Amino acid sequence: MIFTVAIDGPAAAGKGTIGREIAARFGMRHLDTGLLYRAVGARTLRGEEAVAAARGLEAADLEGDLRRQDVAAAASRVAAVPEVRAALVDWQRGFARAAGGAVLDGRDIGTVICPEAEVKLYVTASPEVRAERRFAELAASDATLTREGVLEDVLARDARDMGRAEAPLVAAEDAVVLDTSTMSVEEAVGAAVAIVASALPAR
Ligand code: CDP
Repeated sequence: MIFTVAIDGPAAAGKGTIGREIAARFGMRHLDTGLLYRAVGARTLRGEEAVAAARGLEAADLEGDLRRQDVAAAASRVAAVPEVRAALVDWQRGFARAAGGAVLDGRDIGTVICPEAEVKLYVTASPEVRAERRFAELAASDATLTREGVLEDVLARDARDMGRAEAPLVAAEDAVVLDTSTMSVEEAVGAAVAIVASALPAR
């Protein structure tokens, strides 16, 4: 079976959690494409030029602490460079259309990487709710973090991701929009699972 679930949306909207749960539930493989951009961003923080970093990306780069805020900011900067995005396209497309079904989450999955995806979700929530969730996720490992700082980071990254010329963050025309502002994790996952289940071919 070739079946792609494309999940796009702004920072900290819950794409990763929903993507992982859908993949587990339906036995599909899952790719958090943000990790690719974070890994390239992390290499630039170590002094490497962005395009060379993207072209030379290795599996080992996906390990380590890529959740940090400085890495996220670097990711969104390198993600605006067309040659960086181009270096990562083929691998993501191959993953999306490999046999067995795949769930990919990111910013341009339903619009650029896999416009033919069988299911497209655009997962979003208010900036305040997203900042609160990201603060809860990161505060334990970074005592210097403040709620205001996280909100600023989320807003700056959204503006950069939505405003860039190449593959900007936008809901695909045929995406189902899931606003999770007032949903629990279980409710958001449940809604997404129902949408995927109704699109799967009868087995
Ligand atoms: O987890 P969170 O939603 O905060 O971020 P992420 O999905 O790990 O993505 C980090 C950054 O990578 C984003 O702010 C985007 O600039 C970039 N990105 C992208 O441009 N295209 C993708 N398909 C995935 C991420």
